[in-house]
Amino acid sequence: DYEGEAIKRAPVVTVMGHVDHGKTSLLDFIRTTRVADGESGGITQHIGAYHVETPQGMISFLDTPGHAAFTSMRARGAKATDVVILVCAADDGVMPQTIEAIQHSRAAGVPMVVAITKIDKDGADIDRVKNELVAQEVVPEEWGGDVQFVGVSAKSGEGIDALLEAVLLQAEVLELTAVPSSPGKGVVVESRLDRGRGPVATLLVQNGTLRKGDIVLAGLQMGRVRALLDENGKAITEAGPSIPVEILGLDGTPEAGEEFIVVADERKAREVANFRQGKYREVRFARQHT
Ligand code: GTP
Ligand code: NA
Ligand code: MG
Repeated sequence: DYEGEAIKRAPVVTVMGHVDHGKTSLLDFIRTTRVADGESGGITQHIGAYHVETPQGMISFLDTPGHAAFTSMRARGAKATDVVILVCAADDGVMPQTIEAIQHSRAAGVPMVVAITKIDKDGADIDRVKNELVAQEVVPEEWGGDVQFVGVSAKSGEGIDALLEAVLLQAEVLELTAVPSSPGKGVVVESRLDRGRGPVATLLVQNGTLRKGDIVLAGLQMGRVRALLDENGKAITEAGPSIPVEILGLDGTPEAGEEFIVVADERKAREVANFRQGKYREVRFARQHT
């Protein structure tokens, strides 16, 4: 294990909940940009990764899709995270993917903070949502439970500071640390093949520092980091703990949820990647022929 000074790191927070309950809008308000407006049909189809400075400290966010088709993305989102913000719309209440999100959080052993969204709407009924969540054994602190509930509006911004405070309070309890001087490691959030740039992978650095020029082994893929981009597409030279980055330079597109590590020896990295690819092909072949 690497010796180095451990410092406090920012919490990684995954936003989960039923389709159209306001996850992306909430993050938009927090980031004061307009992500939801640019999405096809307003449906999130990938995991977005962002980090924001708040007056009380930095937080990294993973947005996830609420659509029923994206179960495995939500499961991976829950695994990569320290805290889940469970979003539930005040005018709609607990729905199938609300329950699914609760199950993913529990399976991953990740504490939840509940954001009751759309409290500005006419049909908003916060007590109804609370009761429906209690039926799922998610009990608000003010009713004797151990989960912080915060009502928010992504239209007016009401409650959003209180939500960030609740998240940071929850993170404080976890005493999250990292060693920035160690080699970068973390998890693949998503990847895709870009026509011009080749394989592009969104990585979340969980420990250490990832730098331009590093050799990265990510699941079945490896490569030298040719460029690092922050969430706004700006070129950067390094990313420390809890920072999401896009990287260029991998030989292929690693699976979301795979671990990545920085390795010193390029030849070793290639050997491991080749070995894993061979194993993968064997398993796939065996499945096709039984
Ligand atoms: P998926 O990613 O597809 O699961 O949806 P989402 O949970 O990210 O929801 P999204 O942010 O796309 O919002 C869905 C709709 O609800 C949009 O039309 C938003 O404008 C609206 N909306 C979100 N938050 C609020 C809110 O606080 N108040 C009101 N009035 N409308 C909201
Ligand atoms: Na949506
Ligand atoms: Mg969304």
